[in-house]
Order: sequence, then C-alpha cells, then structure tokens
Amino acid sequence: MTRIPVQSSAPGKAILFGEHAVVYGEPAIAVPVTQVEATATVTPAAPGRGLTLIAVDLDQSFSLVKGPQDAPLVVAARLTLDHVSAPVPDATLTVESSIPIASGLGSGAAVSTALVRALASFVGVPLTAAEVSGLVYEVEKIHHGTPSGIDNTVIAYGRPTYFVRGAAAGPELLSVGAPFRLLIADTGVPSPTKRVVDQVRKGWEREPDRYGALFERIGGVAREGRRRIEAGDVDALGPLMDENQSLLVDLGVSSPRLDVLIEVARSAGAAGAKLAGAGQGGNMLALVRPEMLDEVAAALERAGAVRTIRTDVT
Ligand code: MEV
Repeated sequence: MTRIPVQSSAPGKAILFGEHAVVYGEPAIAVPVTQVEATATVTPAAPGRGLTLIAVDLDQSFSLVKGPQDAPLVVAARLTLDHVSAPVPDATLTVESSIPIASGLGSGAAVSTALVRALASFVGVPLTAAEVSGLVYEVEKIHHGTPSGIDNTVIAYGRPTYFVRGAAAGPELLSVGAPFRLLIADTGVPSPTKRVVDQVRKGWEREPDRYGALFERIGGVAREGRRRIEAGDVDALGPLMDENQSLLVDLGVSSPRLDVLIEVARSAGAAGAKLAGAGQGGNMLALVRPEMLDEVAAALERAGAVRTIRTDVT
C-alpha cells in the first residue's frame, strides 16, 4: 500500500479549576491552549526500515523495535498500532513541541496525542477523540503514575472540558456563555507532575481529613466555576480563581515564585489568578480584561516570568 506523509498537531492545556482534587474524584475544568502545540509528522521510509521515532526537542532517535520499550514515544506508537491492528509500518515519525516540558501545560499528553493521531492516520485508521484520549491516558500513566485523565481528555477533544475521573458519561464539553481571556505566565522552574502528585498523596495519607476537606472545597469551586462559565458570568470567575489558589496554597503546591507572579498579576489589574497544573513551579494563569493585557503581561515579565501566553476561552 502506498502511504502518504501525515501531520497532526495537539494543543497545550491549562487547568482553570480543580487540579489535584481531580485525582481524588472531584470535578475540574481545563481549557486547550492553542498558542503552543505539539506536532507529529510521519513520512514513508524504504521497505524493511521499520518505524523510526525522532523526538526533535530531546535530540533522541530510536527504532520502535530496538529502542527502550518503556520510552513514552515507543509505548504510544505500540499502543496505537495494537489498537488499530496494523503491522509496524516502514516510516519515520518525528515529534516536535513548543510546549515547555514539566510546566503544567500538558506537554507530555500533547506529544502523545499528536503521535497517536498521526500514526493512526498514516496506517489508514483515523481515530475518534475518545479513542485518542484513551490511548494517551495509557501513556500518561508512565509519566505520572496516577493521572486523573484530565490532560489527555482536554487535549484530545480540544475544547473547554468539565472532567470527573471515571465518569460513566465521559467528559462534558463546556459551552462557554461569554468568551474570556487568560494570561499564562511561566515561572521558568520545571516541576514534574508526578513528583508533586506523589507529595500530595503522602500528605493525604498522613492527614486524610484535612486533605479530604480541601479536595471537597476545590471540587465545590470547580462546580461553581462551571456554572459561572456557562452563564457567561466572567466577572465572577476571578474571585473563584483566587479562592482556588488559596486552597492550593493550603495543599502545599504553590511556591514562592508562583506566589510572586500571582500577586503581581492581581496588583497589575488581573481579575483573579492561580497556579495552573501540578504547581511548585511551571505556569500560573490570570483572568485579564482585554484592555489590561499589555499592562499585566509587562508587570509579569518585569517580575521574572520567562514567557507569557495569551489565550481566549471560547
Ligand atoms: C496535572 O495537569 C493536573 C493534576 O491534577 C494531576 C492530574 O490530574 O493527573 C495535578
């Protein structure tokens, strides 16, 4: 069969409400961040060459058969080929990403999503968002240990998502009552999700009542966030983000740098701000009115943010 080159991409993501508590069954809301993305390109190779996987950003290249079988790219490719019952194609699969690694923006899930989509299309079996999300979740387990599934879901569906782990009805895609704008700022401090999730788990095992109560309150914030997003009550989202942030501080997942950027954003005119993702580094996000964006972004950069991203939630 003649194959033609295929390219697929996947966005980053930001968690608006509910990180960490979502691992324990509470709801959370995440949005795609299309200003950064992962891309996977598959091109045909000479017969007998097998599948070569190249991760441009990590400067890594290995063959599917001879490479480390627990490497996320190898796992993602194998799961995809098994899922569609296709033999290993003769091809080169290259992944690239503009999403900073370990920064709370879903780089791992986005790379896997782009790879799964591109490879399945290349072998002639395009997948649904639900199938892609399910396969990426399996890969995420290697990165994270106990992922809730929110990253693979929002990235594979590419829509604002209300997510409850294990919900029988699957993810609920939100209809946004009035669009709003987020400003995302990077502390520049990498923070692997698994490490922070493990720390929260230890805290919860030590003090189940205190952590359980915090998770429940965060879940309440996410439920209220959904109501306000759907109602288009944008002004009311800022205070809710602030409330979520103080609960995340109590969980021990903020950091001095995140605290500084969050405070700077609020003082410069953001309507609300919180960390985004696992915390202890990575990115924060702020709700900012369009006319205040330049001012808040400049203040964040002066305060040491290594990069800012503006994204619309629609
Ligand atoms: C990571 O993007 C969000 C966390 O809640 C972990 C997870 O949901 O798997 C910290």
